[in-house]
Amino acid sequence: MRDAQPSTVYLKDYRQPDYLVDSTRLRFELEPNSTLVESRLAVRRNPAAGEGLPPLRLDGVDLELISVAMDGVPLSKEEYTCHAEGLIIPVHRAEFTLEIHNRIDPERNTSLEGLYLSNGMYCTQCEAEGFRKITYYPDRPDVMSRFTTTIVASKDYPVLLSNGNEIERGEVDADRHFVTWEDPFAKPAYLFALVAGKLEKVEDHFTTMSGREVTLQIFTEAKNIGKCAHAMRSLKAAMRWDEEVYGREYDLDIFMIVAVDHFNMGAMENKGLNIFNSACVLASPETATDAAFQRIESIVAHEYFHNWSGNRVTCRDWFQLSLKEGFTVFRDAEFSADMNSRAVKRIEDVSMLRTSQFAEDAGPMSHPVRPDSYMEISNFYTLTVYEKGAEVVRMIHTLLGSEGFRRGSDLYFERHDGCAVTCEDFVAAMEDANGVDLKQFRRWYSQAGTPVLEIDDDYDSAGKRYTLTVRQSCPATPGQSEKLPFHIPLKLGLLAADGSELALDSEGTKETVLEVTAAEQVFVFENIPERPLPSLLRGFSAPVKVRYGYTPAQLRLLMRADTDAFNRWDAGQRLAFGALAQLQRDYRAGTELQLQPELLEAYRSVLQQEDLDPALVAEMLTLPSAQTLAEEADIIDAEAIIAARKFTERALAEALYEELLQTYQRLDHDKPYRPVADDIAERRLKNTALAYLCITEREEALQLADSQFASATNMTDSAAALAALVNRGDDQRASTVLHDFYERWKEDDQVVELWLSVQSSSPRRGTLEAVRALMAHPAFELTNPNRVRSVIGAFANRNFEQFHQADGSGFRFLAEQVIALDKLNPQIAARLVTPITRWKKYTEGPREKMHAALQSVMDAGQLSADLYEVVSKSLKTD
Ligand code: TRP
Ligand code: ZN
Repeated sequence: MRDAQPSTVYLKDYRQPDYLVDSTRLRFELEPNSTLVESRLAVRRNPAAGEGLPPLRLDGVDLELISVAMDGVPLSKEEYTCHAEGLIIPVHRAEFTLEIHNRIDPERNTSLEGLYLSNGMYCTQCEAEGFRKITYYPDRPDVMSRFTTTIVASKDYPVLLSNGNEIERGEVDADRHFVTWEDPFAKPAYLFALVAGKLEKVEDHFTTMSGREVTLQIFTEAKNIGKCAHAMRSLKAAMRWDEEVYGREYDLDIFMIVAVDHFNMGAMENKGLNIFNSACVLASPETATDAAFQRIESIVAHEYFHNWSGNRVTCRDWFQLSLKEGFTVFRDAEFSADMNSRAVKRIEDVSMLRTSQFAEDAGPMSHPVRPDSYMEISNFYTLTVYEKGAEVVRMIHTLLGSEGFRRGSDLYFERHDGCAVTCEDFVAAMEDANGVDLKQFRRWYSQAGTPVLEIDDDYDSAGKRYTLTVRQSCPATPGQSEKLPFHIPLKLGLLAADGSELALDSEGTKETVLEVTAAEQVFVFENIPERPLPSLLRGFSAPVKVRYGYTPAQLRLLMRADTDAFNRWDAGQRLAFGALAQLQRDYRAGTELQLQPELLEAYRSVLQQEDLDPALVAEMLTLPSAQTLAEEADIIDAEAIIAARKFTERALAEALYEELLQTYQRLDHDKPYRPVADDIAERRLKNTALAYLCITEREEALQLADSQFASATNMTDSAAALAALVNRGDDQRASTVLHDFYERWKEDDQVVELWLSVQSSSPRRGTLEAVRALMAHPAFELTNPNRVRSVIGAFANRNFEQFHQADGSGFRFLAEQVIALDKLNPQIAARLVTPITRWKKYTEGPREKMHAALQSVMDAGQLSADLYEVVSKSLKTD
């Protein structure tokens, strides 16, 4: 906990480290409440950091210091300074060894940062600044060292793991044993890992492109050993893909993954020893949904890809976080696109970006992809750094083409292997390898906010000339009132009235990327035979909002005929968005709500397109979420959004009932389960149809859900039926299926979490009381982030209707939980509070209630630095 107001760190203050650590020898004696850590560092003055011998400053938090010795000579307490955040030691020689002994308490560590216990198993999480909770150390990514780690533990912990290769093992005495690991690659402390526990493993092998054999191991508790196959398959696919697409090969003889139940994020790329949230690695057809299978595939790949984009080439400082995260998200997205349906993957990613990242960009915590200041770095593991960062890398890919991009990435890896570098170095490698100038493009790293493109066009039929005028702007964000124009790749095509694509030039090019660089820019296309319909921002070629005055008829043409699958979907979203905006106005005006006929006909035609990828059909049948509508609104009228959306869903379900039923029946075949794209697509459409059918609450529809629930042989179908029945129909039926489901699956952690989140995200009346009741259920644990996310997180983020109840009860509930959680796990508390930080955008009633809830968090006092940063920045009114 914090005594003083946390201080702000600025990018402009970056200085090289004064001292380097050539080698780090660690020895752990593991005990739940008193683990002894001995570290021996070979320290050397950094020649690049200047003259003289300044004192050595080491980071250290929540440590009990036992002793310090320099070159073998113990230091007395007067010879160094020990303060709440570390040690300061005077230095007299340019090279010396430092030996430090300290104690830590893994059992009481509920922050899940540093060394902690999860269900009796020791594990670590060091990124970003967790290593300082293990021992005193220069805990910054530009200090890279060779680690050797000895773990001593009771034989009750048979498996003892750390980074690199095992070099020695043996007995200490009758009860205790040890293992020593050596990592041949120098790495920053944030990539250190240790695991000790009673674990089983599955093992496999991979032969790299140069013919080296790599052993692959996944460790879990015995009961989950049957749930590792999908992760192993994904790992091998990712290893092959990185060789084929980036020419990158794995570099150690062994690659390990460990599944841990208590984990703050998805997974962590520790060198040679990735640690995963159990939910992001374990799956079986009976217990995991298609979405979980796909998430696992992409996270396993993400962490594996970090071995090059993150570990071999790491970040100089944490302001550069997107250097590894943006690039690695781009890499995993491309991998997933290659493994599954490219268009559907793109749609999912863009929906998330538009809904959640755009909201972040417009909210009180708005920051550039490369932030220029922070109080607590953990708060900057954001959608902006990850997802918008990935879009920035994608734009470079679009501007350079795949071959140019590959030349750039080859140069980047070659130039900076073994180094800690910056986003600037990444862009420079892309420029140098291609002879291009990305000077203006760099603004994507430094300017926050979502740019808006206003596009007008004009057709001169006599001259057969088509003109597009593009104006760009970007709203002010905290600390950045003026924005300079961005360099925006705008991919487009032009459609004729019959839906065919028009040639854009004499060579017959059908698609082009315009480079928008000025605040206002005019693009002229010659020899266009008729007034075209522009298909703009194909594939979402830049993270911007496009305003263009499409008519519903034009949108329907794009939905039907655009060659760009993403834009077909997007046209449907625009159509729905327009209809929903009108309904929100009608609701406020007290006018009777009516379904827009164009929307109904568009959805009907989508359902009739049996040749289209069923997953794409499912996406096209899904209305923009309430959260998306909220993000797009200047002022969020939660009540009107809920009313408009509910009305539309229901009206569509009623009007298209027969078509939906036919779709459901057509796809309701019992194939053996395989988590492959084609089958996933069919299940997705079938279950989308089922959800619509159940909105009508007709007995026939609810019975379909009932029988699907009873007969499902995979979790995708079972969970979809469960959700349909929990969300619709009478309470009795809902509680019966919930009860049955729990009784069947109560021993399975991942399924229990799904069971919790289905209830918390249900729009059924009285959900808040249900959520409170769930928190008293034995399955709930405030110290387990997955449980917190499944109950409190799902309610606040995925249940727009119940969370936004007009009495403000949802906001007060969230504030209470955040206050309680902050004492246990500040990182999770600071994330969980997000929904009420956006209070300024709401209409008066909710705005005041949200603000009051947020203020109550601040007034609770004694906030962690994590929570304090988010709450104080969000309460600001200037
Ligand atoms: N680097 C991890 C990733 O692959 C992120 C991460 C895992 C993390 N655990 C964390 C970040 C804990 C902060 C705190 O994206
Ligand atoms: Zn990552």
